[in-house]
Amino acid sequence: MLNPFISFLLILPFTHSLSHDYHHALSITLLYFESQRSGRLPYNQRLPWRHHSALSDGLHQGVDLVGGYYDAGDNIKFGLPMAFTVTMLSWGVIEYGEQLAAAGEYTHALEAIKWGTDYFIKAHPHPNVFWAQVGDGVTDHYCWQRPEDMTTSRQAYKIDENNPGSDVAGETAAAMAAAAIVFSRTNPHYSHVLLHHAQELFEFGDKHRGKYDESIEEAKGYYPSVSGYKDELLWAAMWLYKSSGREEYLKYVLENGKNFGGITWGINEFSWDVKYAGLQILVSMLSVEEQSKEHKSIMEAYRAKAEYYLCGCLNKSNSTNLKRTPEGLLYTRKWNNLQFVSTAAFLLTVYSDHLQASNQRLTCHQHEVGPQEMLTFAKSQVDYILGDNPMAMSYLVGFGPRYPQRVHHRGASIESIKTNGGFIGCTQGYDNWYARLDPNPNVLMGAVVGGPNEKDEFHDERSNYMQTEACTYNTAPLVGVFAKLSQS
Ligand SMILES: *[C@@H]1O[C@H](CO)[C@@H](O)[C@H](O)[C@H]1NC(C)=O
Ligand SMILES: *[C@@H]1O[C@H](CO)[C@@H](O)[C@H](O)[C@H]1NC(C)=O
Repeated sequence: MLNPFISFLLILPFTHSLSHDYHHALSITLLYFESQRSGRLPYNQRLPWRHHSALSDGLHQGVDLVGGYYDAGDNIKFGLPMAFTVTMLSWGVIEYGEQLAAAGEYTHALEAIKWGTDYFIKAHPHPNVFWAQVGDGVTDHYCWQRPEDMTTSRQAYKIDENNPGSDVAGETAAAMAAAAIVFSRTNPHYSHVLLHHAQELFEFGDKHRGKYDESIEEAKGYYPSVSGYKDELLWAAMWLYKSSGREEYLKYVLENGKNFGGITWGINEFSWDVKYAGLQILVSMLSVEEQSKEHKSIMEAYRAKAEYYLCGCLNKSNSTNLKRTPEGLLYTRKWNNLQFVSTAAFLLTVYSDHLQASNQRLTCHQHEVGPQEMLTFAKSQVDYILGDNPMAMSYLVGFGPRYPQRVHHRGASIESIKTNGGFIGCTQGYDNWYARLDPNPNVLMGAVVGGPNEKDEFHDERSNYMQTEACTYNTAPLVGVFAKLSQS
């Protein structure tokens, strides 16, 4: 006979974890943004192993582009994903500011946003000029160097009237408009400056239309704008409406809803490229007073598409449901799948609160879903990320007893410049650090890596960048979700 204690263990599914420490998860996610900082680090930098870097960005172009964020495991500043990261951080603070404050993380969240928005202000020196990238993938990826040692090209790339980029202008306008809401109480002057830039960027993007990756070829191989710019223009207008209260922006969202795909595209992906689901959910959450009679049918069409996305996440759609791994993780694609899980968890959490506050339920074909069920599903996805999975691995680096040790990240994989001050050259980094089998010398605290494959498998190898690279836009949506879960 089987020892009853052992049989108890055998039938105990791995999903039965004790509740996770969401407060700790929240705290480390905000630390992660410090590891991605470019430029001159401030006196209150908490993450110890990074130092100043890229201090002459923009010098050759006659513009100060020092600052901002590296997107992932390399040392390039890519405008489109950086702006989306800041939009999502700002949206999280707008929804969960109270919870962030209760957790003692409000100031850190605002610092993470401001590190981005200070840079966007510098990168927008003229109404119709925006510097959308510094560095390029070809030269950067040829080397494996700490940002502090970089010897690669720091060429900067811009959009202007003759070289349009409505997607990156729109996303940056959205980020600055959302951040303007965040700073409206604590720093009204700064908020005003952000809103002004956001309005100018939106107007620039709307008047001079085009895809940014056709103006900046160097972006194409890394962050191509596959969905085009129409989603970003609607998304920017929606954030400008929320930020300024000006009806003309809402009118833009409603009147262009059809032509720009806002009420026609139902897409099971919300990401740095594709904004439709986020936009549709924002429109669906407008208050009754804001629902203009004149455009009632357009508003309803937006809402139907929002519900299409949400029902698809919940596996309750009668048309397209999101795929899942055998153990239930939402699965979109093999390269950096967790970015889509983070954004879905965020939208489900926010919409669950909306249903709760407005005393509604979501109807998916023949199923009704209440706010608690929706939040429970979002939490299940977050819990999977935090370690309730067959690998018993937290994909949030630095969380719990087991997490990826060989994150694909130049800075983290090479000894800190604070303890190893010698210069580490371009290919020397590959030979001496990238190729090592040892764990990274620095822990990339709070980063969410690409995550497991469609079979819930994960290989913790530095060269396995589809799974072990972390990106700022993977972590950003979870800041709001962790804030909510830490206080509920
Ligand atoms: C999703 O729904 C389909 C059809 O109702 C069902 O067969 C499947 O088991 C569901 N998947 C999960 C993970 O619940
Ligand atoms: C799916 O459900 C919606 C709403 O209940 C319905 O209008 C539509 O016809 C259904 N589609 C299919 C393919 O069954």
